[in-house]
Amino acid sequence: MKKLIFTLLLSFNCVQASGTQKHFNPSDSGRIIQEVNILKSGRRISADLLKTLGGVLSQSIRKKGLVDSINMCSLEAIPLTEELKKKHKLQGIQRVSEKYRNPLNAPDKLDKIAIDYLQKEKLPSYLQQRVKDGKFYYRFYQAIGVKSSCLPCHGSKDEMKTTVRKKIERIYPQDKATSYKIDDFRGVVRLEF
Ligand code: HEC
Repeated sequence: MKKLIFTLLLSFNCVQASGTQKHFNPSDSGRIIQEVNILKSGRRISADLLKTLGGVLSQSIRKKGLVDSINMCSLEAIPLTEELKKKHKLQGIQRVSEKYRNPLNAPDKLDKIAIDYLQKEKLPSYLQQRVKDGKFYYRFYQAIGVKSSCLPCHGSKDEMKTTVRKKIERIYPQDKATSYKIDDFRGVVRLEF
């Protein structure tokens, strides 16, 4: 079921904002409309990213095999996310996970709040707001689920091909992104508006 959560967090719930409370006016209808639009774009952009990444990855696995597609996940993800960032004028776009493979994808404090909330409430998306110097900033989060196609690289280590496991262990010595099962919560796409 495609439920959508629209949550407004006051700045002091999220991050420390500097003297901005006077600007916060929940009845500001223009801003509410803007936030609904952010939610809509957030869902569209993150679906676009996941679909494109998934397509590129499965094509690479078909053509070059699993082992040679391991690099692709990091190499291709960068230009793709950069392209989307430019196209949609985003402040940031990233995949984030508590059980990460690349430590650069580890969550910060605000990500953790979003990840805990999405998991607890079993929701697909979440909008986080903060106010700084009278300006509103948003982070949109879209949950990523595990599919069977992810398991060759993110499943149980015992069931992984030895060549795949060895290459992942070599490139990512701090890897936490294994032992996932189908439908597990893998992490989030984070978009910054
Ligand atoms: C061919 C192996 C391979 C497959 C298949 C694969 N991944 Fe990955 N995945 C990787 C590698 C390698 C990274 C690290 C990328 C980097 O360095 O940023 C990664 C990173 C990620 C990240 C970023 C967070 C982190 O752990 O660093 C997410 C989220 C992710 N994968 C989800 C998925 C999902 C969902 C699927 C299935 C639809 C999938 N992956 C399939 C190899 C794979």
